[in-house]
Formats: sequence, structure tokens, C-alpha cells
Amino acid sequence: MTNRGKHTDAPGGGAVTGRTGEEGARTGAGGTRSGDGGALSREGGVRSGVGGAPGGVSGGDGGARTERLTKVYGTGSTAVRALDEVSVTLPGGRFTAIMGPSGAGKSTLMHCVAGLDAPTSGRVFVGGVDLGALPDAKLTRMRRERVGFVFQAFNLLPTLTARDNILLPTTLAGTKPDGEWFDTVVRTLGLGERLGHRPSQLSGGQQQRVALARALITRPEIVFADEPTGNLDSRTGTEVLGLLRRSVDDLGQTVAMVTHDPAAAAHADSVVYLADGRIVDVMDAPTPARVLDRMRDLGGAA
Ligand SMILES: Nc1ncnc2c1ncn2[C@@H]1O[C@H](COP(=O)(O)OP(=O)(O)OP(=O)(O)O)[C@@H](O)[C@H]1O
Ligand SMILES: [Mg+2]
Repeated sequence: MTNRGKHTDAPGGGAVTGRTGEEGARTGAGGTRSGDGGALSREGGVRSGVGGAPGGVSGGDGGARTERLTKVYGTGSTAVRALDEVSVTLPGGRFTAIMGPSGAGKSTLMHCVAGLDAPTSGRVFVGGVDLGALPDAKLTRMRRERVGFVFQAFNLLPTLTARDNILLPTTLAGTKPDGEWFDTVVRTLGLGERLGHRPSQLSGGQQQRVALARALITRPEIVFADEPTGNLDSRTGTEVLGLLRRSVDDLGQTVAMVTHDPAAAAHADSVVYLADGRIVDVMDAPTPARVLDRMRDLGGAA
């Protein structure tokens, strides 16, 4: 339990802190979807699942987990229980999709796990660190250095160009951006022609891609993406999903992505289904057809 309010400082993106040895790993085996955390043998093998394994190593280096995470908005008769004792593991070096109907608590879960919003009760661990035990300054630093977040509403700074928005996490951290990685991200996301534009001069899909580039630019250990393909055409959406997939396989990054799209969810290693603030199912090795079936079984829109 903590009294911390909503944390709304600048969007995260991590510095290269604590990621020594990464370069070697990137040129390594490359990892596979079914592997244990790709080239960076993080604590792979810990599957997404209900229950967590309190006290265990799940959600260790690079991953995250929650223990009976509860979030109630408001009080009295207007109170909304957005999350109801959610215990879930987002394993390090793996790609987890989060699905569920509108209002199920998906964004709330992402915000709480990323340390952007404080839970009403329960605990959140990122890389083995209990966020509730961190003083504000340390929490801010951890968010900045180790977490990347793509918001459902992109949260780009209107006065900055696309380039400066993308580079904002490095500017804030006072670190030098990796030019080669910047070029790779910008090229993959098709933003090369738009770097000098401000958000108001960009389409919704372009803004979404800038937000994604900003989350990836510092190669954070864990990336939270709230419907990152929601505004993209299918070709660009597939490229974005490919980039997320590669960041998991080649960089050992941990990705948690909210989506309503079975085809997008099928790029993940597992799918966690939320409904009414609770986890109702977890599926490993999803395919579009299986995800669609499960969505039907679970009674409706995801
Ligand atoms: N700041 C807030 N104050 C009050 N209620 C809130 C607040 N944020 C979210 N809620 C409520 O909490 C519940 C979960 O919201 P959340 O945004 O997590 O849903 P979601 O699964 O992300 O939905 P969507 O698919 O529409 O984005 C909803 O009933 C929502 O109305
Ligand atoms: Mg949402």
C-alpha cells in the first residue's frame, strides 16, 4: 500500500545502464520464440501465468510480476475496481500480449506495473525490485532507465519534432543516443521522412510510430505498449510487431503489449486475458485462430 499519486513525469525509455554485455549478446544466437529469453539468457523459462510464485524468482532480471494487485478508482458508491487481486508474471526476455474487453483493466495493469500509477493494494516487482518499497526519486529513475512505455494516447510533446520526441528519453537521461539503433528504429517504423514534423503535422499512425520509437530508443529492459498497432494499417502494424518481436529475440527485451487484434496477439509468446479486473485465462504459443476461438469462448469482444 502506498500513498503515491499518479506519476506523470516524462515518458520512459531506458539508459543503457545495467546492460553491459548486451552487444555481445546481440550478435549471439539470436534467440527463438520458443527459447528461454533469446540471446540474453535472462530468467527465461518462467512462463506467463496466474499466481506468480510469490517469493520465487519469477519476474527476475528484466521481467515483472504482480502479487494480488488491486486498483480502485474513486470511493464509495462511485468506486471502480479496475484491478482485482491480479497476480501475473511477465517473464524476462519474453513477449506477452494482454487482451480483454474495453474497461477490463488492461491499461490500468500496464500503468501500475510500469510504476506510472500506484496500486490500491498488492505489490509490483520489476526486475525483482518491489516498486512500492522505492522512494519516489528511485522509482522515477528506474522508470527512466529501465522501462519504455507506449501510451494508448501517444503523449507526444506538441512543441518537439518527431526526432526530438524520439530522443527525449536520452535527452532527459543525459545520455548519448546510439545513432545506428536510432536509424534502425526510424527505418523500421518508416519515419525517415517525418523526423522534422511536429505531432500536429503527423497522422495518428505516424504519431503512434513516433511514440513507439521513443519507447525503444534506449533499449529499455521492459517495454509496455498499449495498443501500439491500433492506428496502423496492416503492413505497418506487421512491421511494428516484427520490431517488437526482434527486440525480444535479439535484445532479450521484455515486452508487454495490449491489443484487441488476434493477429497481433499471435506475435507474442503468451496471451493473458483480463475481464472485469481479473485474469481469466493465459494461453501459450498463441495463433490467430486459437486467440479468436478463446475470445469467443470468453464471451465477447477482446
Ligand atoms: N482515472 C480513472 N478514474 C476512474 N476510473 C477509471 C480511471 N481510469 C480507468 N478507470 C476505470 O477503470 C476500468 C478499467 O479501465 P482501463 O482503462 O484499465 O480499461 P482497458 O481494459 O484499458 O480498456 P480499453 O480497452 O477501453 O482501453 C474502467 O471501468 C475505467 O472506466
Ligand atoms: Mg486501455
